[in-house]
Amino acid sequence: MNTLEAIAGRRSIRRFKDAPVSDEDIETILTAATQAPSGKNRQPWRFVVVKGDHRTEMVRIMRESIAFLEEQGSDTGSARWTANVMEQAPVTVFVFDAHTPRQRLPWEGGGDLVNVQSIGAAIQNMLLAALDLGLGSLWICDVLYAYDPLCDWLKQEYQMIAAVSFGYPDEQPGPRPRRPLSEVTTWL
Ligand SMILES: Cc1cc2nc3c(=O)[nH]c(=O)nc-3n(C[C@H](O)[C@H](O)[C@H](O)COP(=O)(O)O)c2cc1C
Repeated sequence: MNTLEAIAGRRSIRRFKDAPVSDEDIETILTAATQAPSGKNRQPWRFVVVKGDHRTEMVRIMRESIAFLEEQGSDTGSARWTANVMEQAPVTVFVFDAHTPRQRLPWEGGGDLVNVQSIGAAIQNMLLAALDLGLGSLWICDVLYAYDPLCDWLKQEYQMIAAVSFGYPDEQPGPRPRRPLSEVTTWL
């Protein structure tokens, strides 16, 4: 399958067979994650792999937290359904930002964190689509240094997240270094 077919064919899956996923496959997926671009190649991602019996405690904690929030009168959206999916799935990987300290989120889904990830996914698709078209691309967050002037100039009141430059490549740089999986992943 080529890249564009892969992007178009991707679907959120909420049902899983009762069959294990091999550690080799998990490592292939995590390696693909670590091949993503990152600002200054800082590779802020950290992964925790939860599988086997550890899933029981994961789902118990989810359900307890959801119940607590509902008792407080909070709308927990589809969280109960999501917990059921996590219970079924043989593997769940938690993803952390090692460059941002843990913060107390205002509940109601942590909207900003969700939106910024959705935009990240859209940007990743732009880069993959460009590659398929023979174009090079650069994901740029340095535009945030000129946040207000650029937003004013572009006449935008929305939050600027990033810019992406595209063009036919005139260089073939080799792969930049990546931290090994053993450094960025914890297995339970
Ligand atoms: C940042 C983000 C958070 C998401 N969170 C959940 C979630 O908690 N539960 C869930 O079932 N789906 C979640 N999704 C999946 C979206 O519902 C799904 O991507 C969207 O409905 C589009 O469907 P598709 O992925 O099949 O194209 C999330 C997707 C993104 C990008």
